[in-house]
Amino acid sequence: MELICPICGCSLSRVDREYRCENRHSFDIARQGYVNLLTVQQKKSLHPGDTREQVLSRRAFLDENYYEPIARTLCDTAKELGASGPILDVGCGEGYYSSRLASALEAELTGLDISKEAVRCAAGRYKEALWLCGTAAHLPVADRSAGLLTSLFALTMAAEFRRVLTDDGLYFQVLAAEDHLLGLKSIIYPELLHKEKDTVPELPGFRLVKSVPIRFEFTVEGEQVRNLLSMTPHVYRIGKEGAQRLAATEKLTDTASCVLNVYRPT
Ligand SMILES: C[S@@+](CC[C@H](N)C(=O)[O-])C[C@H]1O[C@@H](n2cnc3c(N)ncnc32)[C@H](O)[C@@H]1O
Ligand SMILES: [Zn+2]
Repeated sequence: MELICPICGCSLSRVDREYRCENRHSFDIARQGYVNLLTVQQKKSLHPGDTREQVLSRRAFLDENYYEPIARTLCDTAKELGASGPILDVGCGEGYYSSRLASALEAELTGLDISKEAVRCAAGRYKEALWLCGTAAHLPVADRSAGLLTSLFALTMAAEFRRVLTDDGLYFQVLAAEDHLLGLKSIIYPELLHKEKDTVPELPGFRLVKSVPIRFEFTVEGEQVRNLLSMTPHVYRIGKEGAQRLAATEKLTDTASCVLNVYRPT
């Protein structure tokens, strides 16, 4: 994938252990194998994005393949629609889904996340891909350079995604549905508030090709109950009593419910 300088927008080329632009901005390839293309100006906090603890919990959980039906649906749908790379996974986390997608399609993969811990963890395992620390708001990749763009349980920046996608490319978006992890939510919250959720949003510059619901049950025990919480935004919202109830939960059978929306540029 063609990278661009996050400071001046010129093309980056790889020279030894760094990427450089013609204006002499340079970015080291870290020992762990990722490239930090997040500028100080783009950082809204010292350590943006998921923490090390969240990243490690997500890896420990996903490694047990509880969410394999989601990975399978991504791969099957990509094949069915004739998707081809290069793949750009935005908000890639520790790389579970996109590394599977890249193997299934035999495509080149670039993963990007604002969390350094996430791309460090991804790079430690999936060495054949390129892992970037950067922001979805200003993707450090050239216009029309991705054939398949994915954002899985992560944010959507429609104009920026359209810019980097080829005209015949595909955008795969996975969003949690309203009934996602109801079991977990009913343990940690005293009452469940009904919130209308638009799970098939209209995106400027895109048309919806298909929307695939994904729903399945799974059971976690012991430490995986805590890992599950840590992977979700609920980890920021849980109160003291909810945390106590969860700590006392040894086994949880829950339902994962999400939707895969596939879009093409208009
Ligand atoms: C819920 S996690 C999903 C991770 C991965 N896609 C998965 O499903 O396993 C959301 C990810 O988005 C990242 N993120 C948050 N804001 C971001 C931004 N502005 N640009 C890129 N990544 C961002 C977080 O660091 C986190 O890794
Ligand atoms: Zn530059």
